[in-house]
Amino acid sequence: MSVTCTQAIRGSFFDITAVVDMPTQLPEQARYIEDGLLLLNGGEIVSLQPWEEGRLQLADDVPVLDYRGKLIVPGFVDTHIHYPQTEMIGAYGEQLLEWLQQYTFPVESQYHCPQHAAKMSAFFLHQLLSNGTTTALVFGTVHPESVDALFTAADGLGMRLIAGKVMMDRNAPDYLTETPEQSYQQTRALIERWHNKGRLSYALTPRFAPTSSPELLSKVSQLKAEFPDTWMHTHLSENPQEIEWVKSLFPAHKNYLDVYDAYQLTGRRSVFAHCLHLEEEEWDCLHKTDSAVAFCPTSNLFLGSGLFDLNTCWQKGVKMGMGTDVGAGTTFSMLQTLGEAYKVGQLQRYKLAACEAFYHATLGGAHALDLDSRIGNFSPGKEADFVVLDPAVSALQQMRHANSKDIWEKLFVLMTLGDDRNIAATWVNGQCVWQTHSEVKAA
Ligand code: GUN
Ligand code: ZN
Repeated sequence: MSVTCTQAIRGSFFDITAVVDMPTQLPEQARYIEDGLLLLNGGEIVSLQPWEEGRLQLADDVPVLDYRGKLIVPGFVDTHIHYPQTEMIGAYGEQLLEWLQQYTFPVESQYHCPQHAAKMSAFFLHQLLSNGTTTALVFGTVHPESVDALFTAADGLGMRLIAGKVMMDRNAPDYLTETPEQSYQQTRALIERWHNKGRLSYALTPRFAPTSSPELLSKVSQLKAEFPDTWMHTHLSENPQEIEWVKSLFPAHKNYLDVYDAYQLTGRRSVFAHCLHLEEEEWDCLHKTDSAVAFCPTSNLFLGSGLFDLNTCWQKGVKMGMGTDVGAGTTFSMLQTLGEAYKVGQLQRYKLAACEAFYHATLGGAHALDLDSRIGNFSPGKEADFVVLDPAVSALQQMRHANSKDIWEKLFVLMTLGDDRNIAATWVNGQCVWQTHSEVKAA
């Protein structure tokens, strides 16, 4: 008997079928179907089954795309990235605070211009999609125009995206600061314009504690109370000088996270990027409030910020997703980001297995963003966002791939040697929005 579906896709599939509490539970939730059939109804997943079973449910008039030889995984989720910093990725020589002054703030000053913001939004989303990233939590700049441009472009592509205008009122150049009242009014207007429009969501985005006065944080808190289903996105405990600075700016608070927590900015939809030098009490607060963290290995290594403690993150029961953190991060590629995460683990005697790495980049990231009921794997009813990976696109990869004994080794080599060349196609909401070449044929 045939089921209602509009498209069918044949290939090898890998996903993680459920959120877990510990990495030891991951292998039993991993699903690999070497010859599988994914049925879609518009932008929704109907089923994923072995080809021999799935084909029996196919009506004759439903087209089957043949991706055999490729590996199809859920779309990657980038839980922390700055779109305006695309222009200054790979800036030489500084650690966080000097890097912000010298490179970041000047670049961000340009986003008052709607044309510039529109051009860079299109470029940025193309970078995400050509790297297999289908959902991201994104920083704009302080200018509302930056966010209008990004949401307009993402809406046109049907992408699930969360973004927000930066809020900051001190310790930054005059051309990037605002008053708390302006910040409140502009943010409020953006929420009303964009939040829950199609697949778009709004994140309240105070840059970090040092650029936020207590009055500004009160305004963020007020917005969170008025719009409780919005997200909150900021930085936490990235660099030792930054942490000392927060202590001097907010001496009454117990620790860095306590500054945000005191303004009710922790919670299920709060995402804190970096979290490299947390005190025990801060980990406990993240857990207690069900807040999430973004692990950004290429950024943390590039700025010399420190090593994320993945083991403690699991032990403390804190939700975590991967972030590229472009432009402090040095790649849009989630594959490369996983490869660097593995090396961060190595430096701390933590073995990041491929199964765990791909979990963080897909369902785990979706869980960190409180989106796991909608994206992150091939469960029926979820939104059809996925990536078609070509595991062997260079002579070296072909040779190595031929020597890989099972799916675990193939995935591990992909995250070790892979990059944007391995992304054959990216699908968003049941539509192919990016592909290397049109070699897809009917099965
Ligand atoms: N902390 C405050 N702003 C930023 C930023 O733009 N990038 C990074 N990596 N850390 C920050
Ligand atoms: Zn950042």
